Amino acid sequence: MNLKKMCCALGLLPALLIAQTTVTVDTNNPGSQINKNIYGQFMEHLGRGIYEGVWVDDDSNIPNTNGYRNDVVQALRELKVPLLRWPGGCFADQYHWQDGIGPRDQRPKGVNTTWGGVIEPNSFGTHEFLNFAEMLDAEVYVNGNLGTGSPKEMAQWLEYMTSESDSTLANMRRQNGRDKPWRVHYFAIGNESWGCGGSMSPEYYGNLYKHFATFLKTPANNRPVLIASGGYDHHLDWTEHLSSLEQNFAYRLEAIGHHYYTLPTGDWDKKGSATAFPEREWISTLSRTLAMKDILEQNLAILEKNDPQNKIGFYVDEWGTWYDVSQGDPGFLYQQNSIRDALVAALNLNLFHQHAERVQMSNIAQMVNVLQAMILTDQEKMLLTPTYHVFRMHNVFQDATYLPVSLTGNPEYTLEEYSIPKVSASAARDNSGKVWVTVVNTHPRESETVEMAGKYSSLVGEVLSADKMDAHNSFGAPNAVAPVEFKSTASGGKLRFKLPAKSVLVAELK
Ligand code: AHR
Repeated sequence: MNLKKMCCALGLLPALLIAQTTVTVDTNNPGSQINKNIYGQFMEHLGRGIYEGVWVDDDSNIPNTNGYRNDVVQALRELKVPLLRWPGGCFADQYHWQDGIGPRDQRPKGVNTTWGGVIEPNSFGTHEFLNFAEMLDAEVYVNGNLGTGSPKEMAQWLEYMTSESDSTLANMRRQNGRDKPWRVHYFAIGNESWGCGGSMSPEYYGNLYKHFATFLKTPANNRPVLIASGGYDHHLDWTEHLSSLEQNFAYRLEAIGHHYYTLPTGDWDKKGSATAFPEREWISTLSRTLAMKDILEQNLAILEKNDPQNKIGFYVDEWGTWYDVSQGDPGFLYQQNSIRDALVAALNLNLFHQHAERVQMSNIAQMVNVLQAMILTDQEKMLLTPTYHVFRMHNVFQDATYLPVSLTGNPEYTLEEYSIPKVSASAARDNSGKVWVTVVNTHPRESETVEMAGKYSSLVGEVLSADKMDAHNSFGAPNAVAPVEFKSTASGGKLRFKLPAKSVLVAELK
């Protein structure tokens, strides 16, 4: 008989049945720095992610500055976006960079054969992307075209972006309005090369990687971290093969990009709905997203074996929820975003914090109007999603130092065949010495009494919660799900608080 049933059988007061989780933050044994790029964003030429979502052209009625919509830029500035990945995704392996430079009205129009078969106007290209990143003070991750490109095309793109010389390509950049080179922090060779990027085996890709990387030269003060397109889900063969490639003077392999999406059902033909779902799909979604733990641990074990000196980063450069499309062109991957997505985000961020030594980047898919977006737009209207709020609340963790956390008394939340921990938490110390904690309650109906072990006098921050499992923001009610201030003061030497059902808390421990 479990404790709850036993208490009921004995007729004890319901108050005694409330479970209590104790969170202990080990401030004496700090771990790695949480790379700010764990909070990276991904923007692809897909649906309304860039066109309308970010870029509206400078003759649009939507308020903009040089073509970038003002409301979105302001929201992203408040988010403190550290890193932007572009132009794909699958689109990257069909993108030819020379189509996206020069006078916009003279750029060729292509067909986006990957996403909806729509016309790609190429009005958002290299200059528009790199200038956008500068506006946001974000680092850049450019994904090169391995699938339909050549080593020459890839090498020339890097030369165009980074060369300070008098070369024809550098001068072409100057003629197109950019005198000094841009800083390119990260560059990837292909995307999902096991699938949309060319249906390759790890061995075939490994050879191509070495071939292409050999020719990617940049000035010494502007060398991007070179990223190999890695595996997906629980597949380990890409990490195994790529991390065992010998490295030499001719080429580098400095990071592996792995992808994992969370589907409520796990079935790509019937993924599940973004809203109006049963509790079974609440817990199945959170349970499937927590599979990220095993994915990280299994891949990191391979890297420990093949790269014990930790030279190769493990980047989760695509992750997030993926639901059935309920509105618009099915190729546009537009979906609503609810409090469930907020919890998915917070649970994954806790896992990334916990593995910060090797997981030095992640890019949630995608920033605006696509999959688990921060921002949704409808022409001139814009709203911030619950996932945005989680990212904004968490920005105190960017570049903070991870502090180990242990949980005791943490009950399981169980439904049918699913069972997940009710509470998840992580902590860090920021550069000014403040200690931050994030605590998630995965239960959709029950609050949790949480105690912070140690001599703290108070906890001050914000909590995001909602009444319904699919609570979300709409253009009619854009603030239906929004964080509120949260404060708890110690009493009798104990810092205890009630964490609402389905909630994410980020707070400073004082
Ligand atoms: O994010 C949407 C798509 O998901 C990306 O283009 C691709 O890399 C992945 O399959």
